[in-house]
Amino acid sequence: MDKTVTIPRPDDWHLHLRDGAMLKAVLPETARDFARAIIMPNLVPPVVTAAQAREYHDRILAALAPGSRFTPLMTLYLTEETDPDDVAAAAASGLVHAVKLYPAGATTNSASGVSDFDNVRAVLERMAEIGLPLCVHGEVTDHDIDIFDREAVFIDRVLDPIRRATPGLRVVMEHITTENGVDYVKSSDRDLGATITTHHLIINRNHILVGGIKPHYYCLPVAKREEHRRALRAAASSGDPRFFLGTDSAPHTDPNKESACGCAGCFTATNTMPLLAHVFEEENALDRLAAFASRNGPAFYRLPVNQDRLTLIRADTPTDFPPRIGSADGPVTVFDPGFPVYWRVS
Ligand code: NCD
Ligand code: ZN
Repeated sequence: MDKTVTIPRPDDWHLHLRDGAMLKAVLPETARDFARAIIMPNLVPPVVTAAQAREYHDRILAALAPGSRFTPLMTLYLTEETDPDDVAAAAASGLVHAVKLYPAGATTNSASGVSDFDNVRAVLERMAEIGLPLCVHGEVTDHDIDIFDREAVFIDRVLDPIRRATPGLRVVMEHITTENGVDYVKSSDRDLGATITTHHLIINRNHILVGGIKPHYYCLPVAKREEHRRALRAAASSGDPRFFLGTDSAPHTDPNKESACGCAGCFTATNTMPLLAHVFEEENALDRLAAFASRNGPAFYRLPVNQDRLTLIRADTPTDFPPRIGSADGPVTVFDPGFPVYWRVS
């Protein structure tokens, strides 16, 4: 007999929708299952001001199918020139729900990010005052730090000092990939949460490198050792309100991924909810899927849980997910977990 799980309609607390043709292609994949998403601002050029966020918001709404109830929650890209008053006004108007910190050079389109944290002190202090969350890409960019250590080093060298210097600043450690990240979040009883992606619950670094290089498993922060994946699974499936879903679904066209210098990002918007049902079933935690995907995020962001519901069904035969979706810019490969998934959205 089919097994079902019904949860409040989930939200995605970390999503890349891009712009133009790519936005048109990927938006329906998220809007199908999710009510809301925190929209990353790393466009080219980045979404830095409230006016730019308003325009991007309107482009997203214009790209939605008629009748869709999907709500984009906008973010601003923090630069050393960001104006605290502009941020505060954008938050007060309800347009902007977080500010995103990319250390300069850490990942895709992060060149305008922050190099000198003293130059963003005034913005961070204002955010602490008004309770606006800072979403952090938690990796140092120093060339002498091994890519697999960049998250752990970031916690000690950057994140912990910023939090100590800015009491009351509410921080989301985005897409944590290590046990160090899990432990750091657990060590704090206030003002700190973390998103975890679907793919980091499924792959470890072997999936990228063993038996030939797999560009579609390459993302940033890069997947780590198996022990870290296990720590992420334990955190996500624990029900602990500090951990919530942020898919970091990050579309790039196949030619840009399958290249001598391939882009970072896994595209998981299409099949995230069935994959999560699979993972949570394996963890004997299907009853905690709602906490991770539907309840903990709104609680952190001080928003209501969605009234609407989503039902997942486990069938006897594997679900056929499309291997890729089309866009006018080129095909985008959908994340392949590498095992059959029997869950689908009803
Ligand atoms: C993201 C992208 O492509 O914009 N890539 C990724 O590997 N996650 C950027 C990011 O979130 O780091
Ligand atoms: Zn991202």
